[in-house]
Amino acid sequence: MTATKATNITFHPGAVTQEERAQLLGQQGATVWFTGLSASGKSTIATALEQALLNKKLHSFRLDGDNVRFGLNKDLGFDPASRVENIRRIGEVSLLFASSCSLALTAFISPYIADRELARELHAKHNPPLPFIEVFVDAPISVVEQRDPKGLYKKARAGEIKEFTGISAPYEAPENPEIHIKTDEVDVTQAVEKVIAYLEEKGIIPAQ
Ligand code: ADX
Repeated sequence: MTATKATNITFHPGAVTQEERAQLLGQQGATVWFTGLSASGKSTIATALEQALLNKKLHSFRLDGDNVRFGLNKDLGFDPASRVENIRRIGEVSLLFASSCSLALTAFISPYIADRELARELHAKHNPPLPFIEVFVDAPISVVEQRDPKGLYKKARAGEIKEFTGISAPYEAPENPEIHIKTDEVDVTQAVEKVIAYLEEKGIIPAQ
């Protein structure tokens, strides 16, 4: 884990506790962390889920790998150290969203188990702990390569993109995700329903 560089800093607590904030806003925060290969369906499911939650008048915000790399993480590439830093930052940002009582939906390949565990730990160590729901968006490499919506797998196979996840860079699948979605078996609507059912069952969002 990256050590804190700054010295002489003091944490300044707010006047409102997490519980009071949740009560005042009528909503509790959480992070729904989508992980999976490129073109597995993470962004598509997260986008539909965001819409479904907003339709229920629940604050929800999507953090998406490609999008965040245009801004906050524009200084990062795809070498292993950059991917670690990418996910470390998103772990922290999702924690901020969750602690503001929003539902943060992250859609990043997040290929390393250790980095996802770090993000999970951040949420667990928060006072009080905030829910962290890991969703494995699972599709075999043969299927995502067939989909190849951006033509990246083709380029990776041709050697035009180095260190491409699933081809020339590793993807460590979750061993114990809260939710496992096989996108070659279910459609987007079913995937969203599965996540919503989980959030309702755990009391993270009100059951309807
Ligand atoms: S992560 O591995 O650091 O979590 P992230 O989710 O932010 O990746 O970005 C992945 C997206 O960047 C892919 O969906 C794809 O569009 C694009 N991309 C470009 N180069 C690569 C690469 N070498 N490996 C994986 N994805 C890449």
